Amino acid sequence: MTNYDKQYQDEINLFGAPYAEFEAFVREHAPQSGTALDLGCGQGRDALMLAKHGYTVTGVDGSRVGIDQMLAAAQSQNLAVTGIVADFYTYPLADTYDAIVLDSILHFGKADKSKELALLNAVAQQLNPNGYLFLFVHKSAQKERVLKTWRTSLSDTLSIVHEAYVDYVYKESVSGFQSKFQYYMLVLQQTSQERA
Ligand SMILES: C[S@@+](CC[C@H](N)C(=O)[O-])C[C@H]1O[C@@H](n2cnc3c(N)ncnc32)[C@H](O)[C@@H]1O
Repeated sequence: MTNYDKQYQDEINLFGAPYAEFEAFVREHAPQSGTALDLGCGQGRDALMLAKHGYTVTGVDGSRVGIDQMLAAAQSQNLAVTGIVADFYTYPLADTYDAIVLDSILHFGKADKSKELALLNAVAQQLNPNGYLFLFVHKSAQKERVLKTWRTSLSDTLSIVHEAYVDYVYKESVSGFQSKFQYYMLVLQQTSQERA
């Protein structure tokens, strides 16, 4: 059992609703159908939102509890979501997608930075033409710098189409603990009509 298994058992919706700005972007720009991958999907708040907007979604997470909760929610709402319990560093990225989400899984600490950048490079290869890569990290000058430096190493066909600081309130219903944060939201789009 992972630490997240325990937290997800205690809180059915630990991270709350998707960021309002993320959902607004998807509502405005999403195709009526398409495929999406949510790496580190947790309990599926983003995966379920994408499915509500017409995507067929695969969510990958190391927490069996999170994946089961996401699948139960998807089933009760009749949404096209598949859940896979796996390590996202070794999950085989065989398919291509119209949207890929990495929300609150990148930290760029000393120990994990190169692994995380390798993961970013790998997912950037899996976007369909016009596909979106949605990245969310805690607002921090250092994390933003790492992401922007990484972005400059990419082909020009992966363009920045949206950048914002989004408000987020973390609340634990059991303990009553509450904290306000901002996240840095970066949306890249594959503008090439061919695979990256
Ligand atoms: C902070 S939570 C974010 C969950 C979700 N993206 C969201 O924003 O609601 C981080 C998630 O990443 C998952 N995770 C962390 N490292 C992982 C790994 N190497 N492989 C798969 N999942 C992992 C955890 O189980 C947890 O569900």
